[in-house]
Amino acid sequence: MHHSDDTTETARFWDDLYGQRERVWSGRANPHLVDVVGPLPAGTALDLGCGEGGDAIWLAGRGWQVTAVDVSAVALDRARAVAADAGVDSRIEFHRHDLSRGFPTGTYDLVSAQFLQSPLDFPRLDVLRAAARAVAPGGRLLVVEHGALPPWANAEHHRDARFFTPQETLDGLDLEPGEWETERLETPRRTATGPDGQTGELVDHLVLVRRR
Ligand SMILES: C[S@@+](CC[C@H](N)C(=O)[O-])C[C@H]1O[C@@H](n2cnc3c(N)ncnc32)[C@H](O)[C@@H]1O
Repeated sequence: MHHSDDTTETARFWDDLYGQRERVWSGRANPHLVDVVGPLPAGTALDLGCGEGGDAIWLAGRGWQVTAVDVSAVALDRARAVAADAGVDSRIEFHRHDLSRGFPTGTYDLVSAQFLQSPLDFPRLDVLRAAARAVAPGGRLLVVEHGALPPWANAEHHRDARFFTPQETLDGLDLEPGEWETERLETPRRTATGPDGQTGELVDHLVLVRRR
């Protein structure tokens, strides 16, 4: 476990990670986001820990007005450039934000946290509860997390990793009874390609709740 005392250290960790490669993620939207949001009418969205912007750019391309935040300036610069190339930059506001320090203002039709997981100290539950508070009436919160280490991960490096079940995450959100509807609590599996081209099965944890 790495310990982060302040924003600078968190930002440095993620900027270093993004700086090691020209691109870290695929650039494509996360498959569970596409699955959940595909049938929904466009509205306003908040993407928490947007990384290189794959989800935000996909949402904007479908007419959503997106606020996308991340602690890494390197990732955000990359995301802004891809959004401009895709011609959707007018529909995305990218903001540098350390979610362990504060939370964006406003309410949204969709609040999405996709793999918002960190090896640093991170107040996960506080952030997810704030994410629920940011959901507008009729809107949804979608949380997708790794449910297990990928088969190619070095277990030694991730000894402290904890994976909360969808039910544990839902319970931890502490949602006001009667105000929310649980639409999905799932543990989907998918086949993915690892860093050395190997194929493996990934387990994800998915929580989708809708504010009435
Ligand atoms: C595993 S990546 C997932 C990125 C993206 N959501 C995706 O699915 O490709 C986690 C992201 O969370 C961001 N992050 C980590 N800690 C954060 C914090 N305290 N505040 C804001 N963003 C943070 C990282 O910079 C990174 O981009």
